[in-house]
Amino acid sequence: MKKLKIGSFLTVVVTLLAVYALVKWGIPAVSREITTLPFPLPVPGTLMFMYMVLTIIALFLFVTFSDEGLDDFLRPVRKFLRGGYGKIPRAVILLAIPAIAGWQVYENTVPRVEVPASLRIQHPSSNFPRSFEALKNPVANPSDADIKTFVEQAKANEVSFIPQVREDIDNWAEENDPEHVLEFFAVAPVKKLLEQVQSGKVDMATAKAALLEKNLFEGRALYAMNCRACHGDSVAGDGPMADGFKLRPINFTDNGTIETIVEGYTFWRVTNGGPGLPTEATPWDSAMPEWKLSLTEEERWKIILAEYNLAGKTPRIPESH
Ligand code: HEC
Repeated sequence: MKKLKIGSFLTVVVTLLAVYALVKWGIPAVSREITTLPFPLPVPGTLMFMYMVLTIIALFLFVTFSDEGLDDFLRPVRKFLRGGYGKIPRAVILLAIPAIAGWQVYENTVPRVEVPASLRIQHPSSNFPRSFEALKNPVANPSDADIKTFVEQAKANEVSFIPQVREDIDNWAEENDPEHVLEFFAVAPVKKLLEQVQSGKVDMATAKAALLEKNLFEGRALYAMNCRACHGDSVAGDGPMADGFKLRPINFTDNGTIETIVEGYTFWRVTNGGPGLPTEATPWDSAMPEWKLSLTEEERWKIILAEYNLAGKTPRIPESH
C-alpha cells in the first residue's frame, strides 16, 4: 500500500491546530465527564500558552532535523511567495497577515467604556417590602396577654420553653432539684418574680422583665445552634466557618450593620437570607441561609432579640415613630 504522504508544512499546520483544539475543547470536555459537574473546568490562558510554545519547539526540531526536512517544509512557502498558487491568493494572504496583527494590537490597546466595578450595597431596599418596616419584635415587646400567660405559668410552675432548650433545663432540674424551674435563671428580674409569685402579688413590669430574660436565653441558644458557625460566639462575624467566604459574615458589633437598620429589616434579611437579596447586593453572592426554611417566625424573632443583645446594640427606630 502506498503511504499517504502529506508535506511537512501541512503536518506542522495540522499538528498546531490539533494541539490547540485538544487543550481548548478536549480537556474541558473530558473534565466534565470525570467530574460530572454541570460546567467544564476552564483551561487557564497561561497553560494554553505553555502547551503551544512546547508544541512549536517540538515542531521546529522536527522540521530542522535535516536539510531535506527543512527544504520540504519551505518548498510550499517558496512556491506561495513566487505566486505558484496564484497571484490573487498571495496578495490576499500577504495583506491579511499585517491586517490581522494590526487589528489584534488595536483590540488590546483601545481604551474601553465600561461600567466601573460597583461597590456592594450592604442594605439594598429595592425589594424590601414596606410592610416589614414598622414590625416590632414581639418577643422583645410582649403583649399584656403574653405577660399574663407567663405569670400563670410561673404561678403553676409550668413555664413552657422551646423544645431546643427543654432537655438542658430538664437535666439541670434533675441534678439540682429546684423548687421552681425559673430558678434556672439566676438573674435579678427572675429572682424578683419568684419572690412575688411566693407572696402572691405579681406586678406586670417585673413579670415582663423576667419574660424577656427567658426569651433572651432561648434566643441565645438558637443563635448558638444556627448562626454561631458563621457569625461567631462574639457576634463579630468570626465564627469557625467565616474564613471560607469571600463575602464575610457580618460583624454585628460594627456600627454600620444591625444598628443602622430597623428590626423589621433585620427580620426580613434573616428570613430571606442571601437568596432574597436583589442585584445591588452583588458582586459575590451572600452565603447567608434563607432562615424561613428552617426556623419559625418566633424562633427568628428570639434570635434577633439575642443578636442585638449580644452585640450590645439597639435597632434603629422606624421613621413612622
Ligand atoms: C453560612 C454562614 C452563615 C450563617 C449560618 C448565618 N449567616 Fe448571617 N450572614 C452570612 C453572610 C456571609 C452575611 C453577609 C452577606 C449579606 O449581607 O448577606 C450575613 C449577613 C447577615 C445579616 C445582615 C446584617 C446587615 O447588617 O446587613 C444578618 C442580620 C444575619 N446575617 C443574621 C444571621 C442570623 C440571625 C443567623 C442565624 C439564624 C445567621 N445570620 C446565620 C452568613 C451566615
